[in-house]
Amino acid sequence: MSSFHLDTQQVQIDLAERSYRIVIGSGLLGQPQSYEGLPRAHSALIVTNTTVAPLYASALQAALQQHHERVLLLALPDGEQHKDWQHLQAVFDTLLEHGCDRKTVLYALGGGVIGDMTGFAAASFMRGVPFVQVPTTLLAQVDSSVGGKTAINHPLGKNMVGAFYQPVRVICDLDVLASLPAQELSAGLAEVIKYGPIADMDLLGWIEANLSDLLARRPAALAHAVKRSCEIKAGVVGTDEREAGLRAILNFGHTFGHAIEAGMGYGAWLHGQAVGCGMVMAALLSHRLGLVDALFVERLRRLIEAAGLPVTGPVLDAADNAGRYLALMRLDKKAEAGEIKFVVIDGPGRAAVRGAPDALVREVIDACCLQR
Ligand code: NAD
Ligand code: GLY
Repeated sequence: MSSFHLDTQQVQIDLAERSYRIVIGSGLLGQPQSYEGLPRAHSALIVTNTTVAPLYASALQAALQQHHERVLLLALPDGEQHKDWQHLQAVFDTLLEHGCDRKTVLYALGGGVIGDMTGFAAASFMRGVPFVQVPTTLLAQVDSSVGGKTAINHPLGKNMVGAFYQPVRVICDLDVLASLPAQELSAGLAEVIKYGPIADMDLLGWIEANLSDLLARRPAALAHAVKRSCEIKAGVVGTDEREAGLRAILNFGHTFGHAIEAGMGYGAWLHGQAVGCGMVMAALLSHRLGLVDALFVERLRRLIEAAGLPVTGPVLDAADNAGRYLALMRLDKKAEAGEIKFVVIDGPGRAAVRGAPDALVREVIDACCLQR
């Protein structure tokens, strides 16, 4: 019988022997019961950052004392710019300096940066050790901690070096979202909104009706948003773990968004902000391709703006802005032989991946970007 609180909810990721559950609720991080049934090991390493550590590391460390004889802690510097080889190496250094072995369990305590990097460290340390995601941003709870994409950045591209490697559990403690800066909450909402147009128009309507509760961080609203997002992602990942096809729909807004992030310099726009603006561009592209009507684009634009996200793209090059976006989008992982692949909305609640003529993409960029 489960020892979780009555109001704790679970979503199952079905991937045969790599199956696991996402546990969603209040106060989970510091409860030893949250970690029951996980692989037993002498040692555990919590990987976190210098912002999250003072807030939550001691509670996690205390809870894990019941499951591991030794709980090590590594706090990396905060920021996307540290999602790199040097800091991945720092994880391996800590593990080896403390004599950790192939049973050692890694715990990723933080947002998507820590989750992606810890997951990659777990995938490669001694050819693979178990890891647990303890996501502390909304974005990480609804997206990055689920589904096993792990990576670090390369100077020539974001998330270019990584592995598919599933966690053994995801613990989404909604209470930790209380300390999240407002713009990080909005960035997470971008990924929640994303699930509406690609898979569930009822969710889109629910977000519209409950946006003020979400922005006010009402626990019931956050719980529903996290659970429904994880359910949708679980369905997609359970069908296409390694992105042979369907999983690419989770990148709605990301092709334009990655161009914004790269063009502005990583960190200038939050990932979720770039995705929010990118979804407006991708929706307009879908409209110009004759797939959705103009009202749909306007509905999505309004919601994204009301969630506190930018809806106008930055100018990346004053001389040839659309050309710069196109050049950056050709570096996207979905591009094939130089042809950019876009996730488009193929009717409300349904997504598809396809190319589009450069001239049309240029029109969309011109329509969506601030012109000086
Ligand atoms: P992040 O990890 O940088 O966290 C955002 C900020 O919030 C950081 O400053 C962090 O220290 C701080 N923070 C985290 N939790 C906090 C809390 N509870 N209270 C106060 N501050 C807190 O950013 P993110 O938006 O969580 O993740 C973005 C990263 O996720 C990117 O690197 C992106 O590539 C990756 N990502 C991965 C996937 C995937 O499927 N693996 C999906 C989407 C995004
Ligand atoms: N965030 C996109 C994916 O997990 O595939």
